[in-house]
Amino acid sequence: MGISHIHDVLIIGSGAAGLSLALRLPENLKIAVLSKTTLSESNTYYAQGGISAVLDKKDSVESHIADTLGAGAGLCDEEVVRMVVEHGPDNIKWLMSQGMEFTKRKKKKNKYHLTREGGHSHRRVIHAADATGQVMQATLEDHIREMPNIDVFENRNAIDLITGHKLGFKDNRCLGAYVFNRDTDHVDTFRSRCVVLATGGASKVYLYTSNPDIATGDGIAMGWRAGCRVANMEFIQFHPTCLYHPHAKSFLITEALRGEGGKLLLPDGTRFMDKFDERAELAPRDIVARAIDHEMKRLGTDCLFLDISHKPAEFIQERFPMISARCLDFGIDITKEPIPIVPAAHYTCGGIMTDANARTDIPCLYAIGEIAYTGLHGANRMASNSLLECLVFGETASEDIVESLKSISTPPELPLWDESRVTDSDEDVVVSHNWDELRRLMWDYVGIVRSNKRLERARRRVNMLRQEIKEYYSSFKVHNDQLELRNLVDVANLIIRSAMRRRESRGLHYNIDHPELDDQGQRSPTIMIPDNYSPK
Ligand code: FAD
Ligand code: SIN
Repeated sequence: MGISHIHDVLIIGSGAAGLSLALRLPENLKIAVLSKTTLSESNTYYAQGGISAVLDKKDSVESHIADTLGAGAGLCDEEVVRMVVEHGPDNIKWLMSQGMEFTKRKKKKNKYHLTREGGHSHRRVIHAADATGQVMQATLEDHIREMPNIDVFENRNAIDLITGHKLGFKDNRCLGAYVFNRDTDHVDTFRSRCVVLATGGASKVYLYTSNPDIATGDGIAMGWRAGCRVANMEFIQFHPTCLYHPHAKSFLITEALRGEGGKLLLPDGTRFMDKFDERAELAPRDIVARAIDHEMKRLGTDCLFLDISHKPAEFIQERFPMISARCLDFGIDITKEPIPIVPAAHYTCGGIMTDANARTDIPCLYAIGEIAYTGLHGANRMASNSLLECLVFGETASEDIVESLKSISTPPELPLWDESRVTDSDEDVVVSHNWDELRRLMWDYVGIVRSNKRLERARRRVNMLRQEIKEYYSSFKVHNDQLELRNLVDVANLIIRSAMRRRESRGLHYNIDHPELDDQGQRSPTIMIPDNYSPK
């Protein structure tokens, strides 16, 4: 039998977005932070390159805005971009005030080292060597665990939001969530005055990804099912350089390696990026990933190469200690030889639609971090703007929540999870087969280069899978893989439908049947509206 909990704020997700919000909220609020596995396991933990912000005198807010708009290929919301960029330096200061240590310059020890990544016209990415996410996650976690007003719940998989409409009330505010407790196998009820989705992205919907296993788009699917609009799901970012090795699961080679002079090479050792863009290796990610995909297909090769071995070994080991060590584990000495690389799904640019205060379409429901569509990234996120977005929206959401809670009462008792009509599954293998099929078909038909025919094929298959998964979900007791699969298939459906709607090529969405940009007709986000959407 599940347990019932009550809090002022329920934060679902413990990455940069969820933890920074929890720490910014006042201590008189009782807060729950949920994590699907351990508190650390998140996309945040694996972040390498760093966080972009205007921190150098020669750089400017206008330049960071212009670069972000340029990478976003005409679809960013300029007001949101300005708000985020302007809040950048203060958010870095806030992180430092929490104890976060960034890498300093070798010669000027009182100055922070700033690196460059694709799309940035200045050095503006502050970092902790090549393990920025690990350091950030650890810094925030240390504080979270000390806070008496914050209850941490690990191994909890949120299943669905509880809203007024679902319970037949006139007032459609979000009242809490049903949450699968992976330790007890029971479904608990979390009741809360406000709920924040901070569950991260959905790149696990693809066979090859830089993301850890938690990235199954749960919050996007939950928000969609509850009645939130979802935007720009066709814009899935493929990172150009993930390590290609049979035993290296999801290991990224940071773009900062190219920022520090790394060159992309064909198998015969020739450079090629300058044929595709004058910024060569430092063009925005969509361009680099597509160029690599093109060259791999043209040459029929399994991978290309990234080489930094022309730099001094001491510099490489000091600047990229984690990558050097990890590659060496696989027998690759990056100080002496090129690294085999392939592109992989990396970042979900679209998501649950929010306003500048992170409010969604449902009263008392917020969404922050990679799960959200805020208008910042447009058709392609610029490198290192994501952690920045997590921090800035953590801040704006905290201010809005404090204000809103003044007039929000504690929700009524909520019904407990009903398991009376389901049994134990007799066919768990169906779930793993469907997982494999879904991720393979998304990679094959809805990947870096799309076509009308491939999208149509994907749509038909995903519809069949959705039907099977729905039947499975309504017949059997819930368990983790099945819950994730249910979310993945909903997200896949949103990606495919959004991609079919965009009949042009823009940013990360490239369709060979519509190779041109249509600035007259389609310079707006792709908004998917659920059947149960009710405008506030
Ligand atoms: P996450 O950090 O992914 O956290 C999601 C949280 O939600 C986790 O705690 C998870 O357990 C929880 N969760 C998910 N589903 C559920 C559920 N159903 N119930 C309960 N909890 C749930 N961005 C940059 O700006 N700079 C970088 O250098 C950078 N490098 C990257 C390198 C890698 C390898 C990857 C994968 C991403 C990188 N990114 C980078 C992107 C960036 O790390 C992420 O976009 C960002 O960390 C997302 O933070 P988040 O808090 O929104 O989500
Ligand atoms: C990287 O370090 O290359 C990832 C940066 C990002 O995704 O923003």
